[in-house]
Amino acid sequence: MKINDIPVRTATAPDPLDHFKWPNADYTRTPYRVFTDEAIHEREMQRIFQGPTWNYLALEAEIPEPGSYKTVQVGNMPVVVSRNQQGEVKAFVNRCAHRGATVVRQEFGKADNHPCIYHQWNYDSAGSLCGVPYRRGLNGNGGYPADFKPGQHGLQRLNIALYKGLIFGSFSDDAPDLIEYLGPNVVMHLDRIFIKPVKILGYHRQRISANWKLYFENIKDPYHAGLLHTFMATFGVYRSTQRGNTLLSPGGGHAVVYSVTNTDDTASVVEAYKGTTNKYQDDFALSDPALLQWTPDFHDGIGNLIISVFPNMVVHQILNTLATRQVRPLGTGAMELYWTYFGFEDDAAEQTAARLRQLNLVGPAGYISMEDGEAIRLVQQSVAGERDATSFIEMGGRGPIVDADHVVTEVCTRGFWQQYARTMGFEPEAS
Ligand SMILES: [Fe+2]
Repeated sequence: MKINDIPVRTATAPDPLDHFKWPNADYTRTPYRVFTDEAIHEREMQRIFQGPTWNYLALEAEIPEPGSYKTVQVGNMPVVVSRNQQGEVKAFVNRCAHRGATVVRQEFGKADNHPCIYHQWNYDSAGSLCGVPYRRGLNGNGGYPADFKPGQHGLQRLNIALYKGLIFGSFSDDAPDLIEYLGPNVVMHLDRIFIKPVKILGYHRQRISANWKLYFENIKDPYHAGLLHTFMATFGVYRSTQRGNTLLSPGGGHAVVYSVTNTDDTASVVEAYKGTTNKYQDDFALSDPALLQWTPDFHDGIGNLIISVFPNMVVHQILNTLATRQVRPLGTGAMELYWTYFGFEDDAAEQTAARLRQLNLVGPAGYISMEDGEAIRLVQQSVAGERDATSFIEMGGRGPIVDADHVVTEVCTRGFWQQYARTMGFEPEAS
């Protein structure tokens, strides 16, 4: 048999997801299958992270000078966000255009160019190919064909949009304008936080043994916070008895949830926590109350505010801690949460010290958020292999996905699933 006689299989198998639809129109049920199915995960990487969305990459303050760069992740793609020699922000896929090796191996740095260690293809700070060894061969041997054009072999670029010092990237030319994408509620609350130039204070990296969407379910659901997090409930950092708001973006994918500190009283708290197992511990006190000393940066009483932007960003203010979080999927059953803590450039030394002291409220070993990782790991563990069962998401009611003037609701979680299903082509049949 000659090689040309070998039959080539050309028929494409039907996509097993073509018939997968959301089970109900108001997203009060989520099929557990979405947390474990490899085909769904693959489609997410394409349609969500490489689709017409804006992915949070970094803060401009992290790459302050020409040549500064940071390596990040968008979906499962390694990406470098960099400032070119003109000071413009660029982002490109961190994979050599020659044979696929990771080009930039440091997490942060500053460099005029980035040589790949494998064959020394060299890229500038915008990801354009600027040098190739042996291009014309050696001693008349080898070399690339005459039609080789370095301009055609740069690193794959992402489109960039900037807002208030936040850098967003998109693989798609079809993403809407960033402001339109974020919607007025998110823009208003980003404006509230990013009121002046920020100063980077440090990082946490947290690996969680759960699907990346379970983290969004968690962060968008304010009512778990007063129940799961004993520390929050006991010391009043957040309680569902506090006055608060739950605000959605058009389409529901992004949310702003906040509570106003000191708006509940002991009697209502004791009543609300009746029947829970030791979640409000009125006889607990901190041996060092400095941890919770709060000098408000903003003058609206909000002590706990979470902004979440589909598909990979969280921004928080918890008392004096300010941070962005980048969600990095690691296959179906794991993710990394990458926290960037910041203050403001004009913070006095004691303000910076206070922010750093309070930093351990959150993060992988924090008083508050360690439990989130464990709670969603427990979900991941118990849904393995599940095909048909769903969760039940009706706190706050069924029906339209709209803002609420309280925080006893799962409506933002339903909003997330609505935008997710639309992006993935999983909308319920009737809608
Ligand atoms: Fe939580």
